[in-house]
Amino acid sequence: MTKRILSGMRPTGKLHVGHLLGALENWKKFEGPDSYFMIADWHALTTEYASGMSFKDTVLEIMMDYLAAGLDPNKCTIFLQSLVPEHTELTLILSMITPLSWLERNPTYKDQIKEQPDKDLHTYGFLGYPVLQAADILLYQAEAVPVGEDQLPHLELTREIARRFNHLYKPVFTEPEAILTQTPKVPGLDGRKMSKSYGNAIYLSDSPEIVDKKVMQMVTDPARKRREDKGHPEVCPVYYFHTVVNRENADIVAKECRNAERGCVECKREMLKHLAEFIKPIYERRKQLESQRERVREILIEGSKRAHVIAQKTFETAKDAVGIGI
Ligand code: TRP
Ligand code: SF4
Repeated sequence: MTKRILSGMRPTGKLHVGHLLGALENWKKFEGPDSYFMIADWHALTTEYASGMSFKDTVLEIMMDYLAAGLDPNKCTIFLQSLVPEHTELTLILSMITPLSWLERNPTYKDQIKEQPDKDLHTYGFLGYPVLQAADILLYQAEAVPVGEDQLPHLELTREIARRFNHLYKPVFTEPEAILTQTPKVPGLDGRKMSKSYGNAIYLSDSPEIVDKKVMQMVTDPARKRREDKGHPEVCPVYYFHTVVNRENADIVAKECRNAERGCVECKREMLKHLAEFIKPIYERRKQLESQRERVREILIEGSKRAHVIAQKTFETAKDAVGIGI
């Protein structure tokens, strides 16, 4: 039997190659009638509530990215969190039984507050971020949640909240396990982790010309100031991409780099050729989708209706177990 899977992303901007390699490529492996992929717009609001951002636009952008990357709405359910009202309703129930201390000691919470000093994250909503995430997962009785390492504390909290609910009332919820994404952090143009906030990303919506320009600007091993200098591929973002999009030649690239037998410019050109082959179909599909926005919207609404049916059923059981309603 296949496991029920749920995962999601926050619509805080367009998706880049880091999301593609770190998450989407992995999600595609789990596609099936029991897999659910969500756009977490309520979660986006917890940090962007004062940014003036319209999530209606970013949601559609992300949906186009999902579809362009190859998530197939006929094989799995893709839905929008805010179109399924049980997410907020279950959050309220779970918030009654979640001790404050569990939320306050959450390492991801503390890290985020430190990493985003320009935002006031000392809010009730942001502290409750993991409770909302627990509701996302538990509503679908997900058995497995493919996520990156940074999400492990949230998964652990979800399990603790499920256990506490099942113990206090009735055994309603399945305890989910995390499936760790294998891809290590994808580096950006400057060698730091690829991220919108660092301005070092290659987006799925970047045209081939832009990708070309970005790759040629990419940093390489700083020790290679001249062509004769021996390099260290393991610190070079260009080499990282060789290992992903030019895997069969990666060993040769590394060897030639170490022996100063290849120049960085030719090395970039070779990588670019493979990277372009890999992301061009995604870019083309995305461009097509951009002219079919209404259709993209409909697919998301369609998926959300399917998700709603499942969520409603679990929520009724949970509400009943708590003894709320009439
Ligand atoms: N917190 C997740 C992130 O920032 C996004 C998310 C929201 C999520 N709800 C989820 C991930 C449920 C997995 C399951 O990446
Ligand atoms: Fe990086 Fe290639 Fe230059 Fe080596 S030769 S430092 S792998 S770009």
